[in-house]
Amino acid sequence: MTRILGIETSCDETAAAVVEQRTEVLSSIIASSIDLHRAFGGVVPEIAARRHVETIDEVIRRALDEAGCAWDNLDAVAVTCGPGLIGSLLVGVCAAKAIAWQRELPLLAVNHLEGHVRSAFIEHADLEFPVMAMVVSGGHTALYLCPEEHVYRLVAKTRDDAAGEAYDKVAKLLGLGYPGGPVIDRIARDADDRAFDFPRARMKDGSLDFSFSGIKTAVRLAAQREGLERAVGEGDEEQPLLRDMVASFQRAVVDVLVRRTVRACKQESVSNVVVTGGVACNRRLREDFDIAANKHRLDVRFPSPRYTTDNAAMIAAAGFLHLERGRLAPPDLTARANYPL
Ligand code: KG4
Ligand code: ZN
Repeated sequence: MTRILGIETSCDETAAAVVEQRTEVLSSIIASSIDLHRAFGGVVPEIAARRHVETIDEVIRRALDEAGCAWDNLDAVAVTCGPGLIGSLLVGVCAAKAIAWQRELPLLAVNHLEGHVRSAFIEHADLEFPVMAMVVSGGHTALYLCPEEHVYRLVAKTRDDAAGEAYDKVAKLLGLGYPGGPVIDRIARDADDRAFDFPRARMKDGSLDFSFSGIKTAVRLAAQREGLERAVGEGDEEQPLLRDMVASFQRAVVDVLVRRTVRACKQESVSNVVVTGGVACNRRLREDFDIAANKHRLDVRFPSPRYTTDNAAMIAAAGFLHLERGRLAPPDLTARANYPL
């Protein structure tokens, strides 16, 4: 039985998990500092890093306790080493290095994006390769072709904002608070998603890349026109025009994400798809992917919400691929804010 301790601190979640035999999640503890950031309308890196320092020991101890796992029963430590907020990443990397050194365990350096891709295989280990993997979160929007389980070829990426960032910015400009995804998901339900015709950016060079900054600006202009900028105070999220506006925004974003993925699958002759990252919680995205899956004969899988947003089980799960291939990190491993997969 191989057991890996995973550690994730790339943004505002301090997370630790113990995973056995690739997919058996014995524990997954997540302590978010999101409440400290809300007043600022986004994650404040310095506050996030300080909170990681305060919380990480306790989170790791709880992950081991809940897994019923003693230090001696661990076979490796996997940690997110990038991309992300550098101060936040360093806390996790230092903790993992200390544990690996003191316990004489292999240290595994996991790319956060690889973690998101592998999150889908915790519950869908049967999915056969090649796979088209979408990572759609607050920091990233990209499609990777995975011919084999440990190979990631970038097929498309965003040229400006990530999709989750667009949700967060639109929510902010309407006064809906932070993070924007869950509240837009909720209030867009059953609203008129054709009330506004927001643009879907296409690349002139025919590439599959994404761009979400134009749609954000279009929503801002529409909100100014309709008198909805920062319209939401306490309790008036339910204004029909506002709900129609966010529903129309969501339709445009989801349309692009689903269509580009279908095109990428056709281009690369792939029919198995995983959709991961915080935005993959979105109800509309899941529904539209289901419709596209039927229409285009694709097998589209999503992780459960607990593995969709940032967590450490996905980091431990990715760690197995490194351990099995003997890809150990050096003892002087450092964190990298920019770290392409
Ligand atoms: O994967 P994640 O936890 O962190 C990053 O690596 O970025 O993703 C967070 C992002 C935020 O932008 C948040 O607004 C978005 O995921 N998100 C959603 C939903 N839940 C979270 N976006 C759309 N619909 C949701 N239900
Ligand atoms: Zn993430």
